[in-house]
Amino acid sequence: MSLATSSLAQLLSDIERIARDAGEAIMAVYARDFTVEEKADKSPLTEADKAAHDVIVSGLEALPGNIPVLSEENTEGFAGVDADGRYWLVDPLDGTKEFIKRNGEFTVNIALIENGRPVLGVVVAPALDVAYLAAEGVGAFKVEGSGERQPIHVGGKPRAGASYRVVGSRSHPSPDLSDWLKTLGSHDMVPMGSSLKLCLVAEGAADVYPRLGPTCLWDTGAAQAVVEQAGGRVETLEGQPLSYANPSDYLNPHFVVAGWNDHHRPSTR
Ligand code: IPD
Ligand code: CA
Ligand code: CA
Ligand code: CA
Repeated sequence: MSLATSSLAQLLSDIERIARDAGEAIMAVYARDFTVEEKADKSPLTEADKAAHDVIVSGLEALPGNIPVLSEENTEGFAGVDADGRYWLVDPLDGTKEFIKRNGEFTVNIALIENGRPVLGVVVAPALDVAYLAAEGVGAFKVEGSGERQPIHVGGKPRAGASYRVVGSRSHPSPDLSDWLKTLGSHDMVPMGSSLKLCLVAEGAADVYPRLGPTCLWDTGAAQAVVEQAGGRVETLEGQPLSYANPSDYLNPHFVVAGWNDHHRPSTR
């Protein structure tokens, strides 16, 4: 059974609080010297990744409902998740390279997956003091500082002849995008880190984000909810929504985030 909109609205506030607590734990590490370890896949791991994971897992486990928690920093449970069920999908610190560079472009990502789709997503960027929140039937919002929730919406398809604002990865090497970019005509690149890449599209500050390199479910789940509730689309190159139904290998196919909700290719220009 799906959660009612009223439950999702209440959960959104609870998850925002947990993500902000994790953000505080991250910023406590950011404010001092820290060591960087290397994971088996050669990616970096800091004390902040681990501290945020601990805060989020204990916060989510204290909520009613006994919903399983799948996190980048503990992938053991991924194979056991019921594909038709409900689970929390967590990237405790998204943009570890940005954290290490101290450029502020890192986030906490928490998504609720139901029936293979993200129905709630919270993205908090603690160094920028910005949060993006979304839940099905509730909407998509941006919160700056201690301000109110402001509804956000994608920008729509750029008009014929306009230059596309294309989001690119700040620190992770991307395959050659030149063939894909030719489908757009003229464009400007907007470099960004973490799931802020998707959030830029959600708030209409960019038009499209093509991701033709590897990503994991936790990189996209929370921000996909934000993009979708803001009126945009996260789709595979074949035009299908990303699926979270089989988290056992936790890898996404290549995808495109579009600030409109028909087909991402500007075929009518
Ligand atoms: C990375 C971030 C980054 C994406 C990379 C991921 P991490 O995750 O999501 O934005 O471009 O592919 O590996 O390890 O910093 O959470
Ligand atoms: Ca990582
Ligand atoms: Ca990530
Ligand atoms: Ca991470």
